[in-house]
Amino acid sequence: MTKIIDGKAFAANLRAKVKDAATAFKAKAGRAPGLAVILVGEDPASQVYVRSKGKATLEAGMESFEHRLDAETATQDQLIALVQTLNADEKVDGILVQLPLPKGMDDKAVIAAIDPAKDVDGFHVVNAGKLAVGEEALVPCTPMGCIMMLKDRLGDLSGLHAVVLGRSNIVGKPMAQLLLAENCTVTIVHSRTKDLPAMVRQGDIVVAAVGRPEMVRGDWIKPGAVVIDVGINRVPGAEAGKTKLVGDVAFDEAAANASAITPVPGGVGPMTIAVLLRNTLVAACRRAGLPDPLGL
Ligand code: GUN
Repeated sequence: MTKIIDGKAFAANLRAKVKDAATAFKAKAGRAPGLAVILVGEDPASQVYVRSKGKATLEAGMESFEHRLDAETATQDQLIALVQTLNADEKVDGILVQLPLPKGMDDKAVIAAIDPAKDVDGFHVVNAGKLAVGEEALVPCTPMGCIMMLKDRLGDLSGLHAVVLGRSNIVGKPMAQLLLAENCTVTIVHSRTKDLPAMVRQGDIVVAAVGRPEMVRGDWIKPGAVVIDVGINRVPGAEAGKTKLVGDVAFDEAAANASAITPVPGGVGPMTIAVLLRNTLVAACRRAGLPDPLGL
C-alpha cells in the first residue's frame, strides 16, 4: 500500500516542538524569539503568505514584526535601509523579505543586505556557501522540510539514488546539497536534460520542484520510490470558473508505483512555514549562545 505522507500532521508536530522550545528560550533569554517579515506591494498571494506567517509566528510563542512598504513610492535604498535597521535590532532574530519584489527592485541586492545570522530563508550567499561546504548554516525552508519528511519515512538515506527535478536556488540546488550531506547519490535534472523519464526512473527518491502541473507521470517512478512533490500549481478545476491546486507530479499515477508520496495540497506546503519557525528559533539560540534545543 502506498503511504500518503501527511505534511500537515508532520508540520503540526514540528510547530508544537518549536513552541515548547520558544517558551524555554524565553525563560533563559528573557525575551521571545522574533521574526520580522517585510512585504513590498500588494501582491495578493504574497499578502496571504505574509498573513499566515505572522499568525504562525504568534502561535509558536514568538514575536512577529510586520513591515509593509508601498510598491509605488518605496525605493530599493529604503528597503535596504529597513533591512539594516532590523539587522541591528536585538529583538529580531529572523528577517524575511517576501519575494517576488516589485519590478525594478533587485532581489539579490536586497538579500545580500540581510545579516546572514538572521537570514531565516537561507537565501544569502554566505548561507548557500556554508551549506555547500558542510558548515553550520541557515537552510532554505522548503528543502529542509523535504529532507525531514524523507528521513522520517526512510531513516538512513545513505547510498540511495535521489533525483531532483529543478535547479532553482531556492529549492533544487539546496535540496541536492542536503541529500548529498545525507550520503545520497544525487542527480539534478532540468529543462535541458535528455530523456527525463529514464533519468527520473533511476530514483529511489524523487523530488519534483519545476512548477509544471503534473509533469512527472506514473511510469517515470521506479516501483517503491519515495516521491516528494514541491509543486503548487493552480489549474482549471472540474467546475467552470473554479480552480484547483495540483503538484508537479500526476498524483494518482505516481501513487500506484511509489511506496510513499506527498499530496498537493497537504504535503510539502505546510512544512515550509513550520521550518521557517524552526529556523527563527535556531537563529535566536545561536545569537544568544544557547544550544539548538531541537537538535536538528
Ligand atoms: N515567496 C514565496 N515563497 C517564499 C519564501 O519561502 N521566502 C520568501 N522570502 N519569499 C517567498
